[in-house]
Parts: sequence; C-alpha cells; structure tokens
Amino acid sequence: DTQQHSEGSQYDFVVVSNRLPVDRVTDDDGSSTWRRSPGGLVSAMAPVMASNDGAWVGWSGGADEHLDPFDHDVFHLVPVPLSAQEVERFYEGFSNATLWPLYHDVIAPPEFHRTWWNAYKEVNRRFAEAAAATAADSATVWVQDYQLQLVPRMLRQLRPDLTIGFFDHIPFPPLEIFAQLPWRRSVLEGLTGADLVGFQRPGDAQNFMRCVRRYMGVNFRHGQAVVGPEVTSTAFTQPDPAVDPDKPAADTPEETASSAEDAGSWTLKVASYPISIDVEAIRSMAAKPETRKRAEEIRRELGNPDTVFLGVDRLDYTKGIVHRIKAYGELLEDGSLEVGQDVLIQVASPSRERVDSYKLLREQVEGTVGRLNGQFDTMEHTAIRYLHHGYPFAEMVALYLATDIMLVTSLRDGMNLVAKEYVAAKHDGSGALVLSEFTGAAEQLKQAILVNPHDIDELKELIMYAKNMPEDQGRRRMRAMRRQVLTHDVNDWQHKFLTDLAGLRGDGDDPHV
Ligand code: G6P
Repeated sequence: DTQQHSEGSQYDFVVVSNRLPVDRVTDDDGSSTWRRSPGGLVSAMAPVMASNDGAWVGWSGGADEHLDPFDHDVFHLVPVPLSAQEVERFYEGFSNATLWPLYHDVIAPPEFHRTWWNAYKEVNRRFAEAAAATAADSATVWVQDYQLQLVPRMLRQLRPDLTIGFFDHIPFPPLEIFAQLPWRRSVLEGLTGADLVGFQRPGDAQNFMRCVRRYMGVNFRHGQAVVGPEVTSTAFTQPDPAVDPDKPAADTPEETASSAEDAGSWTLKVASYPISIDVEAIRSMAAKPETRKRAEEIRRELGNPDTVFLGVDRLDYTKGIVHRIKAYGELLEDGSLEVGQDVLIQVASPSRERVDSYKLLREQVEGTVGRLNGQFDTMEHTAIRYLHHGYPFAEMVALYLATDIMLVTSLRDGMNLVAKEYVAAKHDGSGALVLSEFTGAAEQLKQAILVNPHDIDELKELIMYAKNMPEDQGRRRMRAMRRQVLTHDVNDWQHKFLTDLAGLRGDGDDPHV
C-alpha cells in the first residue's frame, strides 16, 4: 500500500516526541542555530539514528513557527508546528495542567477543560500525520511520553504496516486516580494502538493494565493481550460492573488474551523498561582534569565547608523542593547544621513558567529560601545557595563532584535521572545519596538512603544520618549503586525496548541495533 505514503516516506526508523532533540541557540548577532539537546534519550537515540535511516518528528518549542524538515548532526528533523493557542491548550494546558498533575498523584489539582482536550486531540493527530508521512513501508515508529498518548492508534489507523512502540517517561497513575479523567477511555484506546507500551516501573505497567481491563474490557496474560481496531463499541462507555479490573472478566475465557489474532487485530505487549543515563558521557566528563579542578574551585568559592548538600531539579512541584528546604531549615534552626560548615546548593532550572501551579511553586520556594537565608546568613556565608537557571553539562558534573550529599526528595517521579547521574559521576566512590522512595530510581538504587519526603522528621533524621554515616558504610553503598548504574545505561534501555518491539512483529531480528 505504498501509494498511501507520500514522497517523504523514506525513513525506516522514526522517533516521535513532543520536543525535537535540538535547542535553538541565539548568537550575539541575533542569528540562531541549533544545538543537540542534553539528556539521555537524545544521546541514546543518536547512534540508532545514525546506523539506520532515522528521522525525528517533534515540536521546535516556538509558537506559529513553520519550519521545513532539516538535518542537524545525525538527526533528520521533521518539525511539527503549534499555534500560540495550541501552546496554551495542548502544551501548557492538557499536557502540563491536566495530565502531568493527574499522573503525579494529584500533588497539584489537575484541571479538566474540554477546549484543552480538543487541542490535545488535534495536535496528536498532527503528530500522527507527520509520522505517517515520514515512515517508510513497514518502518518502526517509537512514540515518546504523555503528550502524545493518542498517536499510537491514530498512526495505526493511517499506517497499519508500521510497527509502533510507545514509552511513557512519567508515572502511570493507579486506576482510582486515572478514573477522574473525563477522556480516560480515549487515552487508553490511543495507547493500546501500539504493539508495545513501555513504562518506567512494573507498578506503572500494572496500573495501566488494570485501567485497560476496567475501561476497555481487554484481558492481559503475562503482559500481553490481543487488541483490535473496533474500540468504539458502547459496551464499556459505562464501566461494566461485572468486570473486576483485577481478574479476567467472568464471561471471558482466559485464553482470549493469548488466542490467535483475527484479521486486523494485533498483540499488545506491556512491560517496564527503566530508563537510564549516558554513563560514558558522565564518566568521561568526571574524569577530565578541568572538571575536577572546577569541583575544587566550587568548594573553595563556598568557603571550604565541611558538607556540601545539593539539589538539582526542574522547578516542579513533583520534586519536593519545599519539603527538602523545610527540613534543611529546621536542621539549621535546631543547630544540627551550621551555616559556614554546611551549605545547601539548590539548582532549580526554570520550567513551564506560564502554568499557574509553577508560578505558585516559584513563589513558595523563593519565599522559603529568602526567609531562611534572611534568618541564617552571615556576612560571609549563605545558608542556601539558590540558583534559578540551568547550567551546562560540564558545570553540572563538576557540581556533582563537589557534593558530599545529594538530596533527591521527589513526591512522585517517573525515574529521576539526576540520582543516576550523581552516582555515575562519583568516580572516587565518595558521596551519599538521599533518595525518595517515590522515584522510579529507588527501584534500581536500593542502597541509597531511602526516604519518605512527606515525613519531615524522617527526612531530617536521614539527612543527618547521611552526614554522619561511617565512611566505609558510605563507600559500600556507593559501590553497589555504581555497579548498578554503570551496567545499565540508556543504551541498554533503548536496545531492550527495540528488541522486544521487533520481536512482536516479524521474526524477532532487531534491525535497529
Ligand atoms: C519531563 C517529561 C519530558 C519533558 C521534560 C521537560 O522529563 O517526561 O517529556 O520534555 O520533563 O519538560 P518540558 O515541558 O520543558 O518539555
């Protein structure tokens, strides 16, 4: 059916994500160029793009900007435009003020607006059409993250010849929370259009399968189900009271899930693939003499304190920054920590600044930091060094090296790669990681000092535990964590996902690795 495909349909491997893997950089003379975006996903996909005929479909980050496809280093880029109103309704609205808070345990209240939902559908359709026009016959398309959950099924309807993967980088919520979403069925139908849906944690995959069972009546066996194109049946517009999401429906024989596929139906696999980082990039940056010199310089600039604590986050309410600062402030208050001897560096990179709950959070964080610094700063030293900007990769790695205790206190986090980056950077085996149990990373970094960040007393206790931990215990923990991170990098992640995806269609050979 190649006639259906337009002239541009020539790429055997297509990644689709909300953002393109490049950032715009504006030079002094006002002209702009592109630079590869930092981050694990982009560096993991680069070799796959280079060794296959690969393309990447995504948004440039600008409003009302119509760019032609272009090449940048190994990437063939296919920009998808968003209007200013779509940036508001699709990106800031439905993606980041509906789905993001809903999928992160409703830490902030999600807003439900039909205008936002309509924009989400429309923009997802545009991404699906762009992917359909880019992919070669029988190509593999890998769709990324919560902004594009409708794309898998839309794409399958346009191009049944494609092999479609989807990876959700953020948590998938429990059924009881997902149930709030007025468009829950449509979202599930969108995702189940894929051949493989991947999640960060086994628990996310379980949550998803429960929802699919409950609202679509589809049963899974060993993470697999046969799904078909007819999803508009009215049988489940009202969830069938006979369907227990935790058990196969009484009237559905168990073998349904593993029965042979009818014409037009396919096998859907659901599993977890914990993402990781570009270990080699961090290690080699941490090994550079300049980086190590810079780390020493940072400590000197801070006045050579005994203990440097560090938090690195996008300024997001899911990250538990206020909880962390509150605990730190109380430790200063009760004299457990002392300004000059101890310092907390909080890097909070600006994020989603036009969304209300992010504006509110910024006020909270900056108000709290300001109050604490006002109370505890001396002429010479500051209690909390708060930095509201991003830093280049080299500076971040130097900062990790300069840090004694890394604080990752997310209230909910799909993975948290900062925790893994810190561990990978600490080549001398020093350092300690205080890590929220509500991160995906906590499932891999079991030797971290695991904490419930809602429990401020426990958080304080464990911050002090990390500071006073005997050195050999600290080294033991770090050694175990490094073993985990160093042997599971983002390349293994993409390889596992793409190998499983290839195994679902065809002969199991993975052409992309
Ligand atoms: C999270 C999401 C990504 C997103 C990133 C930055 O990691 O999982 O999909 O790209 O945050 O957020 P932004 O809204 O700036 O793309």
